[in-house]
Amino acid sequence: MESKMKIIGGVPLRGSIEAQGAKNATLPVMAAAILLKDQKLSISRVPDLLDVNTMADLLRSLGASVTFSGHEMEISVPGEISWETPSDLVRKMRASSLVLGPLLARCGRAVMPLPGGCSIGSRPIDLHLKGLTRMGATIELVHGAVHATTKGLVGSRIYLDFPSVGATENLMMAAVFARGETVLENTAREPEIFNLVEALRSMGASIEADGTGVIRISGVDTLHSASSRIIPDRIEICTYLLAGVATGGEVTVTDIIPNHIDSLLAKLEEAGATLKVEDSRVTVYPGERIKSVSLKTLPYPGFPTDLQPQIMTALCLAEGTSVIQESVFQSRFLHVSELNKMGAKIDIQSNSAVITGVERFTGADVVATDLRAGAALVIAGLAAGDTTMVYHLGHICRGYEAMEEKLLRLGARVQVISTEKEDGKGGPSFPGPSC
Ligand code: EPZ
Repeated sequence: MESKMKIIGGVPLRGSIEAQGAKNATLPVMAAAILLKDQKLSISRVPDLLDVNTMADLLRSLGASVTFSGHEMEISVPGEISWETPSDLVRKMRASSLVLGPLLARCGRAVMPLPGGCSIGSRPIDLHLKGLTRMGATIELVHGAVHATTKGLVGSRIYLDFPSVGATENLMMAAVFARGETVLENTAREPEIFNLVEALRSMGASIEADGTGVIRISGVDTLHSASSRIIPDRIEICTYLLAGVATGGEVTVTDIIPNHIDSLLAKLEEAGATLKVEDSRVTVYPGERIKSVSLKTLPYPGFPTDLQPQIMTALCLAEGTSVIQESVFQSRFLHVSELNKMGAKIDIQSNSAVITGVERFTGADVVATDLRAGAALVIAGLAAGDTTMVYHLGHICRGYEAMEEKLLRLGARVQVISTEKEDGKGGPSFPGPSC
């Protein structure tokens, strides 16, 4: 069901909300359950998101049973499962590619349609495939699908040309049963990677990961049932903090891990925002108009690309000119034209955005092109002095649990409206699949 969000802006947000479990930790931990045989994986603090339910459907299509209620999930995996992933689900969610490594490790084969590109870039999986090949997989592309087979993966030394989050996760899971030791170098170091490491260890995998970008996996024969807990969603947390900054409000987010959001906290302090950080909560307070800052998105612990649209919105209202360089994805600036429709002054120069601060946003009809761009537009609507309609809310539901409810709790005037009922007015059309 497609929907839009009506936002009557101009109200400083005020209140406290609890962070959801991290979407980008939940998806790989769910995929890791594929490594189990006649066992089960219990996962707590699972966010109720479109992408999580898509991954659950994908696991069910392979033969697992998944129960999910009240943020608690249980995945029971039988002795035999399918190794072919349904193309409709892979097309719906790129993160489906995370089942490739565990399927190959457990079944010795996997068939998976190539996940397409999306609005933020072509999103290839060449690093995943290159690493699996090094471990002894034979990879063929047949009618746009990856056909992978192996007589048994062998531990190898693999240097990642780019610290890819997905490639790190896929190769780590592929190595769990490999013969001998696999050493992954130049890996991603996002907190979500270590959530997966802990989950795999709790299942009996032998993994060393000290946060230096080197991960060592010694192959074991089998895993066992286990429980895992998902870390707080650092991107969701920062999205609401930036909404507090942009509306001049006072917003507290609880159940967080402060050092996961150090890069944003440092940037907000540099911009002159007033913050208070305690052991598991953080609050932004109203204060002077923030000042312009510049930043470059980088792999963790650098400034996260998943926060780039949202901080851009806040910097549109800053005093002075800011520059944001997007170094992780090829084209993650589709939200710029939508923000400019709302009175922002943003100029794209190659992979940088030059943002000249303005006094305020004006409401408009705008379109979400991916979940983080959508979140950025919601923040702009909350800060605008009049009414904004954000279309294609489906993107946002993929990564933000109960956003309408959380914003209402913070005093925002928002309403989600289904666009199915209107005569075909699903909002301004925008090409391209979700990513
Ligand atoms: C994960 O995507 C996240 N998704 C993304 O979050 C996040 O933006 C991204 O990491 C970067 O932090 C999940 O964890 C489910 P990458 P992933 O592999 O793994 C290139 C969100 O909003 N690359 O680290 O796909 C790639 O094209 C989403 O929650 C290759 O060239 O990201 C990109 O430019 C959006 N070849 C860069 O590396 C490969 O084989 C980073 O990609 C793999 C990646």
